[in-house]
Amino acid sequence: MIPISTPIKLSLSSKIPANVDAVAVFAIAQTDEALQATQLDHDDRAAANRLLASGVAKAKAGEVVFDIVHLPKGKFRRVLLGGLGPADKVTADTYRAAGAAVARAIRKHKLTSVAVVAPKDQAEAVTTGLVLASFDYREYKGTASRKKDDNGKDPAVTIVSDDRKGYERAVAITIGQNFARTIASRPGNDINPPELARVSAAMAREVGLKCKILDEKQMRKLGMGGILAVGSANKLTPPRLIVLEWPGKGKGAPLLAVGKAITFDTGGISIKPADRMGRMIYDKCGGMAVLGFMLAVAKLKLPRRVVGILASAENHISDTAMRPGDILRFYNGVTVEVTNTDAEGRLVLGDALAWGIETYKPAQVVDLATLTGGVVVALGKTMAGVMANDDGIVADLQKAADAAGEKFWRLPLGEPQREQMKSDHADLVNSAGREGHPLQGGAFLSYFVPEGTPWAHLDIAGVADTEKELPLYGKGATGWGVRTLVEWASR
Ligand code: BES
Ligand code: MN
Ligand code: ZN
Repeated sequence: MIPISTPIKLSLSSKIPANVDAVAVFAIAQTDEALQATQLDHDDRAAANRLLASGVAKAKAGEVVFDIVHLPKGKFRRVLLGGLGPADKVTADTYRAAGAAVARAIRKHKLTSVAVVAPKDQAEAVTTGLVLASFDYREYKGTASRKKDDNGKDPAVTIVSDDRKGYERAVAITIGQNFARTIASRPGNDINPPELARVSAAMAREVGLKCKILDEKQMRKLGMGGILAVGSANKLTPPRLIVLEWPGKGKGAPLLAVGKAITFDTGGISIKPADRMGRMIYDKCGGMAVLGFMLAVAKLKLPRRVVGILASAENHISDTAMRPGDILRFYNGVTVEVTNTDAEGRLVLGDALAWGIETYKPAQVVDLATLTGGVVVALGKTMAGVMANDDGIVADLQKAADAAGEKFWRLPLGEPQREQMKSDHADLVNSAGREGHPLQGGAFLSYFVPEGTPWAHLDIAGVADTEKELPLYGKGATGWGVRTLVEWASR
């Protein structure tokens, strides 16, 4: 079983099932009838329209209100009305957020069986929001957290729609995303590189992906001095390069996605401050996005050949840890002077990019990494940063992100930035002082991408996890990137 931390029983039906304890419908603001209201029986439809006519429901985006309908034998049913806001502002994102709001209402009201009537052509968006907001990471909740009134049963949620394709696409993609969030949420005493390799291999076996794991001995033979140095501190948790492949149908060049999967980032000898260091369990989220993406690609059986690589190490501290001043030699022969052991993401990615591109000769390459705190300073928590060696790939990713409802902003990558990374003692330094951290990260990585390979680097440090509730996500890992990557590979 692939763990997805999504405690609902989801299904699709073209009609509202009998005996549900709630029916959810949606409405545009300033209208007097819910969308698809003709699907409802007489009393439920009257209740929905009463909510609108009375002004109890304003149908603001994100709003959910309810009324009670009497049934025979003293029973009741709730009619939930989800708001979509004014017609001219409605987008796919509105439907995702509305689906998410209904998921929160299901949890709050402890409903056991619910029919969610999707507006026309919106089964995919509503299902996406509903599944994402149903994510609830409880693998480490113990006996002291058990709620007295919890009946232990997952609510049965039926999406009511004729659009089986849209529904199934949403399920495949959100399973990938919630799997990514589940593994991302596991702490450093559970997930380390060898354990992540086991989890990835088990998932791959279940969905028919090819999986190859390079261990530290194989990486040493290949000359991967970057990832080996980062992973050298903890002998119990050596680094792994985890390669997943979806053969697809095509004989053409594959797409390649590479993710930073630092299972915990202490900073190494350039140690991080104690305050909030525990958040660094999320330093594997680039790799988790790739993992969830590959799961979704397999579930969707995309025609395209796709390769995903997780560059995994634990950035720890010990007598065998790399030091500031060390000089490392990478797979492609580039040498790097370590000026700061906390700039470790680029060290694992350098080897993964150089080896992955040489081995798979991809048509395009995207890497995702929680690479810099600087990108959070620059762009905040709502957008990733993107740097690239090619305008075409940025345009492709922009279309993908727009369809997915994820946002990024382009940052510069050119000769001035590349120049900044030069070392007096080796080819490059891994950190060149305080200026432009995200740009330094992108510029560093560009030395591991051969000319002529379209490549984009997504710095997701700001968006990979959240400390406040968002329209689609509770606190914790978001799985940012899974949906954009799937759209990218679907085109
Ligand atoms: N994993 C961190 C980046 C990070 C910081 C992610 C905050 C999420 C939240 C990365 O390995 C790191 O430590 N980067 C350093 C780079 C610096 C030493 C050049 C940073 O951003 O401070
Ligand atoms: Mn670091
Ligand atoms: Zn890191």
